[in-house]
Amino acid sequence: MGHSKYTRTTVTAALPYANGPVHIGHLAGCYLPADIYVRFLRLNKSDVLFISGSDEHGVPITIKAKKEGITPQQVVDKYHKLMQEAFTEFGISFDIYSRTSSPTHYKTASDFFKTLYDKGVFSEETTMQYYDETAGQFLADRYIVGTCPICDNDQAYGDQCERCGSSLNATDLKNPHSVLSGSTPILKETKNWFLPLDKLSPKILDYIEQHKNWKSNVYGQCKSWLMTGDGLQPRAMTRDLDWGVQVPVKGAEGKVLYVWFDAPIGYISATKEYTQNTGKPDSWKDWWQKEDTRLIHFIGKDNIVFHCIIFPAMLMEHGQYILPDNVPANEFLNLEGDKISTSRNWAVWLHEYLQDFKEMQDVLRYTLCSNLPETKDNDFTWSDFQSKNNNELLAILGNFINRTLVLTHKYFEGKVPAPGELHDIDKLALKELTETPIKIAESIEKFRFREALNELMNLARSGNKYLAETEPWKIFGKDNDRVATILYVSLQITAGLAVASEPFLPFSSKKIYAMLNMSQKDWTMLHQHLLDHGHLIEQPSLLFGKIEDEQIAKQIEKLKSSKTNNQILPDMKPVVAQKSETTFDDFCKMDIRTGTIIEAEKVPKTEKLLKLKIDTGVDVRTVVSGIAQFYEPQNIIGQKVGILVNLAPRKIKGIESQGMILMAENSHGELCFIVPEKDFNNGSVIK
Ligand code: 2FM
Ligand code: ZN
Repeated sequence: MGHSKYTRTTVTAALPYANGPVHIGHLAGCYLPADIYVRFLRLNKSDVLFISGSDEHGVPITIKAKKEGITPQQVVDKYHKLMQEAFTEFGISFDIYSRTSSPTHYKTASDFFKTLYDKGVFSEETTMQYYDETAGQFLADRYIVGTCPICDNDQAYGDQCERCGSSLNATDLKNPHSVLSGSTPILKETKNWFLPLDKLSPKILDYIEQHKNWKSNVYGQCKSWLMTGDGLQPRAMTRDLDWGVQVPVKGAEGKVLYVWFDAPIGYISATKEYTQNTGKPDSWKDWWQKEDTRLIHFIGKDNIVFHCIIFPAMLMEHGQYILPDNVPANEFLNLEGDKISTSRNWAVWLHEYLQDFKEMQDVLRYTLCSNLPETKDNDFTWSDFQSKNNNELLAILGNFINRTLVLTHKYFEGKVPAPGELHDIDKLALKELTETPIKIAESIEKFRFREALNELMNLARSGNKYLAETEPWKIFGKDNDRVATILYVSLQITAGLAVASEPFLPFSSKKIYAMLNMSQKDWTMLHQHLLDHGHLIEQPSLLFGKIEDEQIAKQIEKLKSSKTNNQILPDMKPVVAQKSETTFDDFCKMDIRTGTIIEAEKVPKTEKLLKLKIDTGVDVRTVVSGIAQFYEPQNIIGQKVGILVNLAPRKIKGIESQGMILMAENSHGELCFIVPEKDFNNGSVIK
């Protein structure tokens, strides 16, 4: 397999922030190519470990918590689970999907920092950092936004500009403002520990120069950071934040590790967790410390600096680790010509996809793989998705396999026939079958997954051509030996497709195996015939169904409506979209009055509900209201409220609720009363 000095491979896929569900951009960025690569290695009987997990620290998490009005821990618990499920459903075959909130990770990251600290690697510096006086906290990383000094992007973060990929210090930004309050921050003194990338620069350059074979986008970016302007600058590895791994040194109380310090160490922690469960807890070292291990990081392009410069610098300075051998980073995938955006809901979410396209994981895997942004940004469109399914998966791959299996049942009772003498056309088809796996392997080893997939489809294409040219249906009854040979050859191609499609289309591969009633094969067997004559196959079923225009129109409609609903929202102030129009008459049907709370108590065994007695001016009535998380019963006696009095009574937890209190809800999900500005008597009409 080309890399003879290596006996095992550690493959990582970036740890995604646990702050939202998984979308197609995630898959195309690194999880799908990493999965194809790993499945291919496994099929080749290579020793490989596939690592990922949720990145649960850093400002992306705390910002999300603020938005959703829940704690950071609740955010990561919610999304870790969702993400893990989505990856599993799409067949991303991690050996372990861990999380950086795990105790093993805390210890590993903390010890790593301590080792560098004890070796005197860090410089301890008191510097001026941005501070938000309104929020009462330092503004690190994504808490601060400003204009990138390099490309003028006015949405650059305090640690990085996602447009030009530069890694920044917050003090580099022009026009900085706080994401928390919108205010212009002040500068305040604080102590942090810096990795002196400037001093390490010659070593890093040396390392990068040994990897001229990296993808040109990756190698080029690294060179430009090292060589342009002032080169690499020292970078703080600690932060004045309260969410993260505590800095394990004296005088650093209340500070945590920079999320980009702890996250890549998460790969190591996850490996430890994996080996803890294998009975050989120390064997994690094989994957991280042995020179005959090849370390490969699959990432998206915004992560290049961290995996090619900062993490290798950390590993070098630690001294006991191997360095990444390759970092095949992809560019970005766009959606219908526009950047994928979580906050604008411009995305195809994996869990929603599966609701509309049940059990069609491979169709998405196929479309994404054939459009991977390997060398430049690329676009996913729904019409391309439809045509990839209808014109390629169904018309080429599905069609060839189905014809082969149906004809075998029709002419040979489902038994692989014995071949007769091979004609040139048969030999040619079989040659294609033995050459294709070699071509696929060459492409995969170069991380060219689109090319590899194309080779796979070429095999199915040539299978179709072979059937079209030999036309067994025309000669059955005249020359059955010839038909037997043709189907024998077609069945070998089908078996080859079952094996070779596994890295790309694992769900379909499994179905083809089942239809062929074939035992597990590996890549090295692909040069031989995989099915003996006389072997009995199962009844065929269709691998792919047609996708209709209406299904595609529905998806496009869904995207468009999310765009109009969310267009101009600044990140921190999401407002619920306006409801559809109503009439004045409908409004007048609602009888809304002023009232006063005269009694309040918690509804037993509930978290959210209070039982209130309201003086409505008309009468005194009971209302059950979901405000218990925001108000203590004893504090709201005497509170003026607005109340909808003619709402049909409803039973809530066995209590009849006779109306509804008006509440305002903010973007964090907090509720507050709507009260009359003057002390009007109860029962005044609100209109
Ligand atoms: O960009 C991101 O989503 C980061 N959470 C990736 C981290 S990769 C690794 F270093 F953990
Ligand atoms: Zn920039």
